[in-house]
Parts: sequence; C-alpha cells; structure tokens
Amino acid sequence: MDAFIIDGPTTLHGDVAIAGAKNAALPLMAAALLGNGESVITNVPDLADTRFFLKLLEELGMAGEFSNNTLRLDPTVRELETTAPYDIVRKMRASIYVLGPLLAARGESRVSKPGGCAWGPRPVDLHMAGMMALGAEVEEDHGYIVARCPGGLKGGRFRFEPVSVGATCNVLMGAVLARGETLLENCAREPEVVQLGEALIGAGAHIEGLGTQTLQIQGVDSLSPLKCAVIPDRIEAGTFLAAVAVAGGRVRLAGCRQDHLEPIIGVLRDLGCVISEEGDFLVVERTGQLQPVKVETQPFPGFPTDMQAQVMAAAALADGVSFITDTIYPDRFTHVAELERLGARIELKNGTATIMGVSELQGAPVMATDLRASAALVLAGIAAQGRTTVRRVYHIDRGYERIEARLAALGARIERVKDS
Ligand code: EPU
Repeated sequence: MDAFIIDGPTTLHGDVAIAGAKNAALPLMAAALLGNGESVITNVPDLADTRFFLKLLEELGMAGEFSNNTLRLDPTVRELETTAPYDIVRKMRASIYVLGPLLAARGESRVSKPGGCAWGPRPVDLHMAGMMALGAEVEEDHGYIVARCPGGLKGGRFRFEPVSVGATCNVLMGAVLARGETLLENCAREPEVVQLGEALIGAGAHIEGLGTQTLQIQGVDSLSPLKCAVIPDRIEAGTFLAAVAVAGGRVRLAGCRQDHLEPIIGVLRDLGCVISEEGDFLVVERTGQLQPVKVETQPFPGFPTDMQAQVMAAAALADGVSFITDTIYPDRFTHVAELERLGARIELKNGTATIMGVSELQGAPVMATDLRASAALVLAGIAAQGRTTVRRVYHIDRGYERIEARLAALGARIERVKDS
C-alpha cells in the first residue's frame, strides 16, 4: 500500500491541466454496452476506477482497449455475460451502472447488490424501481439484483425521490432502447448526466429535456457506437482550487469548464480566493486571511457533496466559525476526526460540521477512508507545519491522476512511498 509524505507548509504556484471526469467516464463506458459496434471515448482519465470498470466490462464480454486516455469498447465481438459478480461490485459501487444497459441490450442483468460504503448507507432502490417502471421484473436473490424483461423494455413513467445521479443515468440507459415513450421526473442535472444524454443522442437516441429535471425519451430500436470526449472533471478542478485556498498562492487551471464550476467558485470566493479568467485559464489566487463560510451540499446546480471535505480543510484555517452541512450524505464526515489530528477544531452534530478556525495546522500521520476525504487530508498536509503522512492513498488513486506529481509541480513537497 502506498502513502504520501508531505512536508509543509508550502504555497502553490504554476499551471495544472484538468483531466477528464471520472464520474462522467463511468456511465459513458457502461453506455458503450448499448452501441452496435466499437465506441470510442477520448479524454478518459487513467484511474484505478476507470481501469477497474474496464475490467468489469471485459469480464462481461466487451472487447476493450485503453491507451493514451482513449478507450475503445466493442460489445459485439462475443455474446455478453449478464452477471456483474460480487467480487467486482464490492470493490466498486459504480458497477451498478451495467444494470440498465445489460437489461436493454440482453433482456437480463444480474448485479451483486452494492453494500454500504465507508461513510454510511448508499441504497440502490431507485435503480431497481426505475427498471420496474420500464416493465422489467426485478427481484433480489442471494445478494444479487436480478432484472429480466424477456420481451424487451417498454416506455414508462418514473419519478426519482431523492434526486440521484446514478439512478438517472441507469434508467436513462434503459429507456433509450425501450419500446415507446418514457417520462422521467426529478432527474439529476449534473453535467455528467447531461454528457451521458448527449453521447446517447449522438448515437441515435431521442432524448428531450437534458439539463432539466424532466427527461422525455422516445425509444429507438438500436444505437450506433458512442463517439465522445469526456468533459473536464469539475471535482478535480475544484480540488485544485481548494488546494490554493488551503495553502495560498496562485495557480492557473487549464481545460476546465467554468459553467460547471459556478457553485464551487462561489464558495471559494467566500473563503477569500480571487478567481478570474486569463485566456483559456481559470486563475485562483489566495494571499489574504481565509474567511469562514456556510456551506450546504445540494444536487447540481448546488454545491457538490464531493467538494465538502476539501472546503472543510480550508475552513479549518479561516478567521472565524464555518458551518458545513451535507444534505446528500449526512454521514459523509470521516475526514473530520483526521483533520482534528492535524489540529483542526470541528464539532459534528446532526449532519452539520461546525469548524472553529485555527491559525495553523500541524503535520501528523493520518489515514483516509474515502476518495474526497483523502484529498482533503492531502490539502491540509500541504498547509500544515511539519510532516504529514497520509496512509491508504489507494483511495485517492481512484479519482485523481497522479495527484502527488501534479501538486509537486506546483511547489508542494509531497512524495509517494511504499507503506506496510
Ligand atoms: N439514493 C437513494 N436511492 C438510490 C440512489 C440514491 O436513496 O437508489 C440517495 C443517496 O443515498 C443519496 C442521494 O440519493 O442520498 C444521491 O445519491 P446519488 O445516487 O446521486 O449518488 P451516486 O450516483 O451513487 C454519484 C457519484 C458520487 C457523488 C454522488 C452525489 C459516481 C460514480 N458517483 O454517486 O461520487 O458523491 O453522485 O453527487 O458518479 C465521488 O466521486 O467521490 C463520489 C462518491
């Protein structure tokens, strides 16, 4: 297992290029199951999660080739398997994304039921109910979700409650090949969902309402292969913006979509960052004292849950008291105890973290339990006095391409070492 050793404090200066979005790439990869030939997806981030999802697709019978951030996926070279086994799903919850496409393409899918995750329960009831609304028979059998539609899926009506990124993508992937019209209400509007819809439209699907809460889908008989470039990762971009908030300095981000970043930029400005555009770059600068913030996570276009840990690392050093509430995942606070080890003062009550800003953090050994929590600890380590060791960085490798090399290029003293 690898660890990061970080010697702080350092400020950050320079340019960084933003990679393709993990959470956009995964549903696009699943959607390749629906095409009638070889899909080509470019700007795919080379991450543990994308590699792992490719392995799942290959086990299902897809032909796959991944090089230079370009992924070629062909589901037509052999008969597809319809089971996503426990050993794969337990390592990656996003495996549930094959449920809808396999059902639409093969008339059957069996996906091991994902369990909870490090910070609490993450149900998949909406994925199952959505498939039933499209006419599938869905049951649970010995830990598996088993869905069948021998005569094919048919159009239906379904309302997501609460809003769910994953379930919206999954049901959309089923509905594009269902017979007749489907109406989906209270859909997620995240850029990753919009990208999936656009890629499906590019392959011949009929979808109206992308980017709104209501999607109308007219099923088609078949889809061409997907051809698309993954959108820039707004959470990775947000993490680099937050890194400058925490550590101070001036960094230019290349290749990000500012329209996807508005809710994050708003909070970073409240923290005291100056954010501007310079040609194609988004520039973030923080030289003054960090200011306290009040943040509540919400579905897009609200502030993303995937950024609250990183913002908390900045709030830990603010001149006053900040409040962070996660309404999407009220228990997603495994970073709190670890930030406290670095000297942060945080109280957790009823899904809200109250952060009493301190004037400095101190390096210490810490351990991450999930992807964004690890990112927050790395940022805090860069700003902390002395040495921080972040253990179990495989979590961070799931969602950031070589983050230590890119932070080091900006001036952070961070290196990857082998840990026992
Ligand atoms: N929910 C249900 N039933 C369901 C599905 C979701 O009640 O069947 C609830 C969840 O418990 C949660 C809310 O709906 O309270 C929203 O969850 P959502 O389904 O939107 O989450 P997800 O699709 O499982 C994706 C991202 C997460 C990100 C969330 C929220 C991927 C692969 N994962 O998960 O990303 O936190 O949306 O934006 O796209 C990450 O990248 O670190 C990460 C965890």
